[in-house]
Amino acid sequence: MAEDHVNAIKELGDQLQTASNSLQVQEIRNTWLGRKGLITGRLKGVAGLPVDQRRDAGQRWNGVRIEAESMIDEALARLQYQEETRQLEQERLDMSIPGVSPGLGMLHPLTRVRRLVEDVFLRMGFTLRYGPEVESEWYNFEALNIPMNHPARDMQDSFFVDIPGMVLRTHTSPVQIRGMKAAAGRLPVKIIAHGRVYRRDDDPTHTPMFHQMEALVVDRGISLADLKGTLLAMTQDLLGEDVETRFRPSYFPFTEPSMEVDVTCAVCGGSGCRVCKGTGWVEILGSGMVHPVVLRNGGYDPDHVSGFAFGLGIERLAMRIFELDDLRLLYQNDLEYLSRFGRYTGRPIL
Ligand code: PHE
Repeated sequence: MAEDHVNAIKELGDQLQTASNSLQVQEIRNTWLGRKGLITGRLKGVAGLPVDQRRDAGQRWNGVRIEAESMIDEALARLQYQEETRQLEQERLDMSIPGVSPGLGMLHPLTRVRRLVEDVFLRMGFTLRYGPEVESEWYNFEALNIPMNHPARDMQDSFFVDIPGMVLRTHTSPVQIRGMKAAAGRLPVKIIAHGRVYRRDDDPTHTPMFHQMEALVVDRGISLADLKGTLLAMTQDLLGEDVETRFRPSYFPFTEPSMEVDVTCAVCGGSGCRVCKGTGWVEILGSGMVHPVVLRNGGYDPDHVSGFAFGLGIERLAMRIFELDDLRLLYQNDLEYLSRFGRYTGRPIL
């Protein structure tokens, strides 16, 4: 009997030695101390012993139980500690690794240029107007004195849609007519209209869709001097006091006289390059005095009022401001490319 319990402790000790994880220790505890465990069985067996042996055996096996419990607890604690440490090592966070920055968003360069231009004109008392991108041929052409056989209506330039008599507007000028009609004869009419326009063009300086900003002023006694003054104020505001502008006689069916406005090329500084096609100048807008036919179509009497209008190419201006040499890059949504515009500090960006 005395040997028995010594062997039991030894055997338990061996088993605990070979246990390699806490789960195995739990099982060992069960085989020794569980309801049907070895030591439990021995303790129960004490009751069946002859009376003179009971006390002794009871004390011994109780001693074995206490010893076994503490051996098991110790083994369990040792293995649980090892397991926790191992897990912590695996999950260790290296707080010194730089995080993934979410990156700061910003407005698209074209939106910024549009806002800069709007800002200039809102300060001069203009109001904003919008017109539809799918426009009737009447607003886009006829009302603007562009007759049926004018080359601008040719398939080369316009996108026609399935609805008869409708086109994707080729310019923002139809908003001139819409604006005058909405003003219903009141004076002055002072509007700007920004939006997308569509033409069948595609090369480094032309995309099939681009943006224009239209301006229209109708009042008594408006002259070419008002147009030139307004344009100068705008170019100086946007491009700096010392920007050079060039007013070139031109032709538009809806203005008379007409002129185009160029500014010195920002890429080459005026010496001539691919962007300005060697001329040193970049065209940014078409303009002129509103044609009498157009005034009449808008509900105004050309004998009493006059007006000026211009259509500014937002992309052209963006190319000038940001010194771009390929317009198409603006539409590819390449963040790497677009993020370069964060550097523009010429004027506060709205
Ligand atoms: N609509 C003309 C264009 O798209 C520009 C323009 C607008 C010219 C207003 C004169 C007056 O080229």
